Amino acid sequence: MRKKIVAGNWKMNNDINQTETLIDELLAKKPEFTSAKIVIAPPFVNLTKAVEKTHGTNIIVAAQNMHQAESGAYTGEVSVNMLKAIKVNTVILGHSERRAYFGETNELLAKKVDTALQHNLTVIFCFGEELADRQSGNHFAVVESQLREGLFHIAQGQWSSVVLAYEPVWAIGTGETASPEQAQEMHAFIRNLIAENVSTSVAEETSILYGGSVKPDNAAEIFGKPDVDGGLIGGASLKANDFLEIVKGID
Ligand code: 13P
Repeated sequence: MRKKIVAGNWKMNNDINQTETLIDELLAKKPEFTSAKIVIAPPFVNLTKAVEKTHGTNIIVAAQNMHQAESGAYTGEVSVNMLKAIKVNTVILGHSERRAYFGETNELLAKKVDTALQHNLTVIFCFGEELADRQSGNHFAVVESQLREGLFHIAQGQWSSVVLAYEPVWAIGTGETASPEQAQEMHAFIRNLIAENVSTSVAEETSILYGGSVKPDNAAEIFGKPDVDGGLIGGASLKANDFLEIVKGID
C-alpha cells in the first residue's frame, strides 16, 4: 500500500517565532489522529527549530530546496549534508517557483535529485504544466518531459525514496484548483508512465500528491480520487486549523 502524505510547503513565510507558534498549534490538535504522513517544509533558517519541536511526533520536517554540489564556493546555498546534520531527511525539489524564478531546469533538477538520493534523502519531486500548456493541450507532454528529463534516470531501487507532486502552475496560489477529475486524469497518466518506464510495482508503490489551491473544502474530494495519494499545500498550510482539516480529508 502506498503512503498517504499531506505536506505543507510554507514557502518564504514564517519567521522563527511564527514557526514555533504554528508548530505548537499543530501539535495541540493532536495530529496523530491520521494514518497519513504529515510533512512541513519551513524556510531553511527555521528547520533546526522545526526539527527540535516536532521530535517524537508524526510530523516530518522537509527542506524546500538544496544545492546539487556536496560543498564549495556557492554563496547563499545549502548542501545535502547540512540538511542531514540537522536531521532533515526530506527535500522538496523542482517546485514551479524554483523553476520559474530561479531558473531551475530539468537538467539541473536531475543533478539535485541524484545528490539527494545518494545521501538517502527522500525527495518530493514537483512538476506541472503552465496554463498555456494546458490550453494548447500540451499538458501531458510537458509533464512527461519534466519526469523523463528530471527523474526517470534514477535506479529502480531509488524510487522508494521518491514522492511525486503534480502541481499545475495555473492552480498554484490562484484559488483555481484542477478539478478532481483533471487531477485524477493526470495522476493516472503519471502512474502509467512509471509503469511503462520503470515497473508496475514501482508505479503502484509511488505516492503522487496533488498541489494547487488545496483548501479544507476541496481536499476530501481531490484526495478521494484513486491515484491521488495526498497533497502539497501552500497557502492553507500556514494556518494550523486549515492544514489539519485538509489532513482529515485524506482519512
Ligand atoms: P497553494 O496551495 O498556495 O496554491 O500552493 C501550492 C503549492 O505551490 C505547494 O507547493
